Amino acid sequence: MTKYIIHGGKPLYGEVEISGAKNAAVAILPATLLVDGVCRIENIPQISDVSLILSILKSLGAEIRTVDRTTLDIDCSNVQNRSVPYDAARQIRASYYLFGALLGRFGEANVPLPGGCDLGNRPIDQHEKGISALGAQVQVQNGYFQATTKGTRLQGAHIYLDVVSVGATMNTMITATLAEGLTVIENAAKEPHIVDLANFLNSMGANIMGAGTDVIKIRGVGRLAGGLYSIIPDQIEAGTYMAAVSAAGGEITIKNVIPKHLDSITAKLEEMGVTIIENDDSLIVKREGALNKSNVKTYPYPGFPTDMQPQIAAVLCLAEGTSILTEGVWDNRYRYADEFRRMGANIQVDGKIAVVEGVKSLTGAPVTACDLRAGAGMIVAALAANGTTEIEHVYHIERGYEDIVSKLRQLGSNIHVETITDEEWHVGAG
Ligand code: EPZ
Repeated sequence: MTKYIIHGGKPLYGEVEISGAKNAAVAILPATLLVDGVCRIENIPQISDVSLILSILKSLGAEIRTVDRTTLDIDCSNVQNRSVPYDAARQIRASYYLFGALLGRFGEANVPLPGGCDLGNRPIDQHEKGISALGAQVQVQNGYFQATTKGTRLQGAHIYLDVVSVGATMNTMITATLAEGLTVIENAAKEPHIVDLANFLNSMGANIMGAGTDVIKIRGVGRLAGGLYSIIPDQIEAGTYMAAVSAAGGEITIKNVIPKHLDSITAKLEEMGVTIIENDDSLIVKREGALNKSNVKTYPYPGFPTDMQPQIAAVLCLAEGTSILTEGVWDNRYRYADEFRRMGANIQVDGKIAVVEGVKSLTGAPVTACDLRAGAGMIVAALAANGTTEIEHVYHIERGYEDIVSKLRQLGSNIHVETITDEEWHVGAG
């Protein structure tokens, strides 16, 4: 078992470079299954969710060659297998994009139902709605999501999504790319990774218009050929470092960002008294004085991202006064609150609302990361806390943050990794 040991209470100074966006990469990599040729993809983040998808693509027959640390050549031309192995796919949410890609390519797919973070109810009815509208017969059987077109080509369709869903929007885009005729997705999600997926597919020969608005039009094409594409920087990784310096104090430069994608996070932190200077592709974030309270509601983009909710909560724990958090996307995204309370935070949760009464300081404590962003929130709190915090279950964090320990050390924080053997762990746990 691996844990992070953080001796907090130290301001952050220096520069940090943001990696490629996880939630773009986990859709773009499966979408290479649609391409007849070599896709050279740059700025791929080195995180465990990406490793899992790459291992699934290999098991399906993809040829993958490393060009450099963040660039791969992926050739799925010879893939014949339409069935994804159970164990790997069950561990990630994004396995549903493999479903759309295999169905789009072969008219047939058999993929285990997705796993991923436990954030409450995570239905896939809107994926089913989009994919069925294109003419596939979809069923869920024995833990697998299965579909077939019975040998006919998928047909474009007009689809109105009942909820704004990132996954259903991207999956329908992937599935419709090689369908016959025009597909229109209404009430589409608008996150930066949706635009990135459309740009990737278009650069391989697709015809997708309107990504980034709530109506996306996909005119089906007969074939995608290979090409070069570079994944956008990770909005949430950048936001997490913004939260870290806001909580711990100091001044850092965050490089390789698209400042526009960070507007809602920047606006909230500025409201709380943090200074943010935007350059073309970097930000300077500085916090010296006291933090002001603020109310934060999470919404689909361009609203404040739910994937930043635990990290901003950690900052609010140290702000003067009472702040209200409202979770507008997931049913259950406050599982970290008990862990924050171990660190001295005053946070009370009632359904989708959390009330945070700011405290003067947090204190280090042993805590457990219950999901990816909850773990990131615990790191933010630990960097600001006096004393030592030990964070367990950091595999959740490593699903989405490349080299987080070395990046934080580069900013002067006192963090290290401790690995204990299973035997030591069981003795300790006994
Ligand atoms: C994506 O999940 C992200 N995951 C999540 O990030 C992120 O929290 C979420 O979008 C919202 O931004 C990936 O991209 C792999 P949704 P996704 O479909 O696509 C409801 C992280 O920390 N819904 O936009 O699964 C659903 O219950 C992760 O990086 C349906 O009702 O989210 C939720 O309330 C965690 N039916 C809302 O829509 C459906 O068929 C938004 O979910 C699908 C979703």
